[in-house]
Amino acid sequence: MLTVVRLVAAWCVVTAQVAFSAEAPKPPVAAIASAYPLASEAGFEVLAAGGNAFDAAVAVSAALCVVEPRGSGLGGGGFYLLHRASDGHEVFVDAREVAPAAATRDMFLGPDGTPIAGRSTDTALAAGIPGEAAAFAHLAAKYGRLPLKRSMQPAIKLAREGFPVYPRLAEDINRKKPKFERSPDARRIFLPKGEAPPVGYILKQTELARSLTVVAENGAEGFYHGAFADKLIAGIRQLDGIWSREDLANYKLIEREPLRGTYHGARIVTAPPPSSGGIALLDALNILDGYDLAQLDSVTRKHVILESLRRVHRDRAEYLGDPAFVKIPVDRLLSPYYAAGQRASIRLDKATPSDLLPGYIGDTSSGVSTTHFAILDREGNRVAASITLNAWFGTGLVIPGTGILLNNEMDDFAVKPGEPNMYRLVGAEANSVAPGKRPLSSMTPTFVESDKGIAILGSPGGSFIPSMILLGTLNWLEGADATGIVLAPRIHHQYQPDAVFAEPAGLSAEERAALEHRGHKIRDWPPTIGNMQIITWDYGSQKVVAASDPRGVGKGMTR
Ligand code: DON
Repeated sequence: MLTVVRLVAAWCVVTAQVAFSAEAPKPPVAAIASAYPLASEAGFEVLAAGGNAFDAAVAVSAALCVVEPRGSGLGGGGFYLLHRASDGHEVFVDAREVAPAAATRDMFLGPDGTPIAGRSTDTALAAGIPGEAAAFAHLAAKYGRLPLKRSMQPAIKLAREGFPVYPRLAEDINRKKPKFERSPDARRIFLPKGEAPPVGYILKQTELARSLTVVAENGAEGFYHGAFADKLIAGIRQLDGIWSREDLANYKLIEREPLRGTYHGARIVTAPPPSSGGIALLDALNILDGYDLAQLDSVTRKHVILESLRRVHRDRAEYLGDPAFVKIPVDRLLSPYYAAGQRASIRLDKATPSDLLPGYIGDTSSGVSTTHFAILDREGNRVAASITLNAWFGTGLVIPGTGILLNNEMDDFAVKPGEPNMYRLVGAEANSVAPGKRPLSSMTPTFVESDKGIAILGSPGGSFIPSMILLGTLNWLEGADATGIVLAPRIHHQYQPDAVFAEPAGLSAEERAALEHRGHKIRDWPPTIGNMQIITWDYGSQKVVAASDPRGVGKGMTR
């Protein structure tokens, strides 16, 4: 039997109580925003069949595995933040990958103690035990209204009958070509005739359809036990991986209490560890609470946002990891007194060099994928889900005979304390590799609610994610709807490297010069940050807006 653990964390931190009635009004329409229109359609199909937002979450996730294989998959994991309208129940479903039992602290290092290039990203050793199948079964059984088989039907059809390759997918496959070429199954599926398929080519994933069917018919049991588990292990062995039958049988999905906080009268419900995002978001808001952002000039506003991000990412690097393995000082990190101390070290006229913050770990010297979707049904149930294989198409290796792409989530561990990972994040002992441990994540599915309405927020983007959620939260509180939030330019700081990352429109020439004058180093990279999928619902006007980031090719729809 697959075990589901329910953890009620002691760190349900509420800085001030803001009460909202469980009897929230019902939205006039249902809304779905996801990274590809066919996945949003799969969700609406299931809603039309009598399903609720949680059934739709299964449908959208399963469809994304098929139509956006770069972002997530049955071979990966993710987080689902749920809100049930009937009783206000909120839960964080942690289906994060787990390090296999044979994992060791130094497994990604060579004899000289330095990381072996590519080992934690491109090999079967990079893969944690996947959680997606457990998530599908759990969402359907505990929160859904339809059988799992019904909710997974659209995805199975898309995999079996195929769908037309779209330009972004053709580009992505082409970019990953050298990685796919190492895996006979990946080559056969993604490189027909040895090349990335042309736009319009009908991409069929017959083996993936069969694997999805195993889950649809037999739930988590079908994936983690019996003949299918044998097949996964045999396939992993061929790829020189280290998973065992016991690793699959022991996989545990965990229901966690979300982190909660308040900011300017809004209630924020967000991701607890093993995500770093919720702590980063709430601590950054606590720091910013000491400023009147609306009164600051635009440079100083950006400066204090960046300085708060620098500080929360220093703490990420130092303290955060899987809470089953490390004691995280959550109460302290989320205390307004702690934030006041962090704020006190911010000078308005000068950037603080990251090296001068306490707790510096070491020298630091990428690729992006993952996917996020948001759902609101007509009953008011909500889902914010971030699911991932980590890098684009994970390792690029397909488990033989299954059509399942293997994640490279092990790279989210600090493979060596102080060594940057693919997102150039550094980490300490708290996030070192250990058997059965969950790698620290930045994924931050979040609800922000005030008496004016709600926002369902989230994005892929690796280390950039908490910054996007922070900016999105501030934008929403200042009156932006989902469209305004996805359009807004983005800036970011993650402590190390000690630099401001800005989209081209993120800083005007004047702001840039002024920030440089205060001591910020600015990097014009990456050209775009994230792929937010957002729903906002304004209680006054009853306007529901589902918006998909123009940086991606998704679609927000209401119906
Ligand atoms: O869990 C994490 O933080 C990463 N594996 C997420 C990766 C990601 O968002 C890649 N994005 N564009």
